[in-house]
Amino acid sequence: MQKILTLLNPELAHNLTINILSKTGASPLSFFYRQSAEFSPVEVMGLQFRNRVGLAAGFDKNGEAIDAFEAMGFGFVEVGTVTPKAQHGNTKPRLFRLKKSKAVINRLGFNNKGVDNLVSNLKARKSKIPVGVNIGKNKSTPIEHAQKDYIFCMEKVYEHASYITINISSPNTKNLRSMQSGALLDDLLGSLKEKQQSLTNSEGRYVPLVLKIAPDLTKEEVGLIAEALLNYEFDGVVATNTTVDRSSIMHEKNAYQEGGLSGAPLCQKSTEVITLLYEYLGDKVPIIGVGGITSVIDGKQKLEAGARLLQLYTGFIYEGLPLIKDLAKIK
Ligand SMILES: Cc1cc2nc3c(=O)[nH]c(=O)nc-3n(C[C@H](O)[C@H](O)[C@H](O)COP(=O)(O)O)c2cc1C
Repeated sequence: MQKILTLLNPELAHNLTINILSKTGASPLSFFYRQSAEFSPVEVMGLQFRNRVGLAAGFDKNGEAIDAFEAMGFGFVEVGTVTPKAQHGNTKPRLFRLKKSKAVINRLGFNNKGVDNLVSNLKARKSKIPVGVNIGKNKSTPIEHAQKDYIFCMEKVYEHASYITINISSPNTKNLRSMQSGALLDDLLGSLKEKQQSLTNSEGRYVPLVLKIAPDLTKEEVGLIAEALLNYEFDGVVATNTTVDRSSIMHEKNAYQEGGLSGAPLCQKSTEVITLLYEYLGDKVPIIGVGGITSVIDGKQKLEAGARLLQLYTGFIYEGLPLIKDLAKIK
């Protein structure tokens, strides 16, 4: 099945996969991809995970197939990025495979069906594994008003999320990554933390807040982000999103495509960010390690660098179900 899918146009293959999974996840047909992954429970951010291996954001943007990913053995799923209003994203083609490098370049631009649609899918899920909701801003919202979009999405998803990830690191939304520093970062983290407090009181439940960062930051920038995470008592950090760096794939036909590069060529770079973050954060703020994990060795390196949980996207496309099972076995 995986082989057939790689013969199709990448975005078509992806949509077809999500479509099939959304229809079969909670049915006996899930037998075709159901597997029992190792039960190696961990507690992170006050949440219980049956194993450390999660599906990274962007694969199930609308939260349509959570039950199917639970059946595959994932310990948790991060859905989104979702924005207040539905949006189409950038013009096609916008997703490219780089097979020899086990990599992908995407410039999707937060195509999603909007936060209300996501909430109804979250309500309908049967799965009991933790579900993080990754939130972003609409393309039409100017960066100075981005905070409003994050607060809007946070209020909508709070009741239905195990944790909420603030995505300010996608390279495919203009100026988004400028929120990773200075007053924009301070204002955003401060207001989200305030909102978390008021929602904790009104909903009677504390939902951890996590920041997702880019791999293309200088050491100083990573240090300042770590300081802000500590100052604002953020609950976690996802490191990392895709990279705009092409230095390791210049031999590839698609290297010149604009967008974020993910998969094997990103692995070392994202592990370096985790190492640096851990130097600043220690065990105070848990790190979710993501970027180029295509083997058990890659997963172990991220855990040794300081990650408490792992996420997969591109490695899952190329390696399929066995990768989840193999990573879940790491003690
Ligand atoms: C096609 C595609 C779409 C993605 N969409 C999102 C997204 O909507 N939000 C997000 O935070 N990350 C998104 N990502 C980034 C992944 O969650 C992950 O951080 C990145 O791909 C690195 O992991 P990987 O090398 O295992 O793919 C996307 C990645 C890909 C390949």
